[in-house]
Amino acid sequence: MTNFKEIKANTYEDMSNEAATIIFDALKESKQFSLGLATGSTPEGMYDALAKKINEANLDLSELTTFNLDEYVGLDESNDQSYHYFMEKHFFSKLDIPQENVHILDGVAEDLQKEVEDYEALIDEVGIDIQVLGIGRNGHIAFNEPGTDFNSLTHKVQLTDETIEDNSRFFESIEDVPTEAVSMGLQTIMKAKTIILLISGDNKKNARDLFISGEITEDIPVSILHNHDNVILITDSAARGE
Ligand code: F6R
Repeated sequence: MTNFKEIKANTYEDMSNEAATIIFDALKESKQFSLGLATGSTPEGMYDALAKKINEANLDLSELTTFNLDEYVGLDESNDQSYHYFMEKHFFSKLDIPQENVHILDGVAEDLQKEVEDYEALIDEVGIDIQVLGIGRNGHIAFNEPGTDFNSLTHKVQLTDETIEDNSRFFESIEDVPTEAVSMGLQTIMKAKTIILLISGDNKKNARDLFISGEITEDIPVSILHNHDNVILITDSAARGE
């Protein structure tokens, strides 16, 4: 299946700029916009480039809403490994988005079941115009690991050993990596009108291969995107093995 568009960027910086430009152009078009965001190393350059473009153009973000994909269970926003902290550092601190329009799952909510249900309901109410995604080496998107139900909504997940190991580079020791997270489900992600999937680096070549093979299976979470009509894949040359 090839119903997605691939933008073949050269460097990581080029990939980041391509993504930032698509989002910036969409924000210019429509003041009332809902943006789905990812954390991780991959989108850092995009956040830099996008914040720069927005600030240079003095774009009004008063009607922008954001939804993040996921958060670790047990880390609050003051923890420098939480996704709240990441987003503040790399994006929100540089911009003027009304606090009440910024949505990130609360990993320390007393009632996590209510937290995930409320999050899903809010996404249904507001919608997501563009959702940005990174990808794990095993093809995970958000914290939806291989085997996740394609019909999954926002839910609590158990991280796989591979993801814990990958994410341990950000923590002092592997024992410090949380083993659970709250995450949009695969069906939640599919609700977005447009999806931008970023794949960067030679360690993600396998993940890109898994996706472009076209096989649609719950063993490869990202493969659900073949059932979406509006996916833009942006890769750098390393991810393509070039
Ligand atoms: C982050 C997320 C994860 C990452 C993925 C890749 O919000 O949902 O699925 O996109 O683990 O992470 P990096 O970009 O650090 O390789």
